[in-house]
Amino acid sequence: MAGCSPETRRAAAWIGSARRVVVFTGAGVSAESGIPTFRDEEGFWQRFPPEQFATWGGLTKTALREPARVAEFVIALVEPIAKAAPSRGHAAISELESFLDVKVITQNIDELHQEAGSSTVREIHGTLFDVVSAEGRFLWRVSRRELIDTCERIRCAVSGVLKLPRMLLAARRIMGWSGRRVYRPGIVLFGESLREPDWSHAQLDAGNCDVMLIVGTSARVWPAAEMPVIAREAGAKLIAVDPVEDSGAELWLRGPAGEVLPELIRMVRGD
Ligand code: APR
Repeated sequence: MAGCSPETRRAAAWIGSARRVVVFTGAGVSAESGIPTFRDEEGFWQRFPPEQFATWGGLTKTALREPARVAEFVIALVEPIAKAAPSRGHAAISELESFLDVKVITQNIDELHQEAGSSTVREIHGTLFDVVSAEGRFLWRVSRRELIDTCERIRCAVSGVLKLPRMLLAARRIMGWSGRRVYRPGIVLFGESLREPDWSHAQLDAGNCDVMLIVGTSARVWPAAEMPVIAREAGAKLIAVDPVEDSGAELWLRGPAGEVLPELIRMVRGD
């Protein structure tokens, strides 16, 4: 195709001749859906230091001290996801399935791969749309609408007095107590085990693919960052799609997923 870089042509040849492709994604694939990444300049962890917000212990301590800050964190995490739609990158990844054996392993909790049509998605960091018990057992699903409403209620709750009790009341659809049971969003925070059986399946998928497409991840958080290592050790070819990080891949398609992936898929299809 005119204008296609040699790297994109080579990546398309690798993917087109692969028997099994794994797409390993991070926050970058959802950046064009309006969801902030974690470690870019304006990244999420710049605004909310992980030691105060990325563990349940840190969150509890911060909530007791500054409930309005935890409200800000919950809204900043939940609202963009609740309002997001799949990007052109999600759509291109889903289209790959129409002519190849493709499995998606994602660190994201936004379900945008499924919404774009990908049928096998390993959500190794869980999903914001499940509510689970303290032990991680599934309890119920929440909709985008319910998440948006919850953010509205939390915003109101912290505008007055008695911030913490009112905030907990406002968030009761996604976290709180019922009887003796604590419940919470089905997402994996720092120091917690990755979601099963997704993590076990992801390790098998990574060790069994010919090509791994690594899209929009700094690949710095373990054990998720093991995915490219397992794939490489199994002899797979690695292709990175990212404007900044090459993930040590053999091929680096430098640019935003929403631009690079549609062009790559067109090349694979032979348009
Ligand atoms: N297209 C592709 N990649 C992009 C885009 C884009 N439009 N915009 C940013 N990126 C890239 C950045 O260059 C960076 O390499 O996405 C990557 C985002 O990296 P992080 O912010 O570290 O996000 P991620 O790798 O998903 O973090 C992994 O860390 O904090 C935990 O649990 C959290 O799942 C998350 C994990």
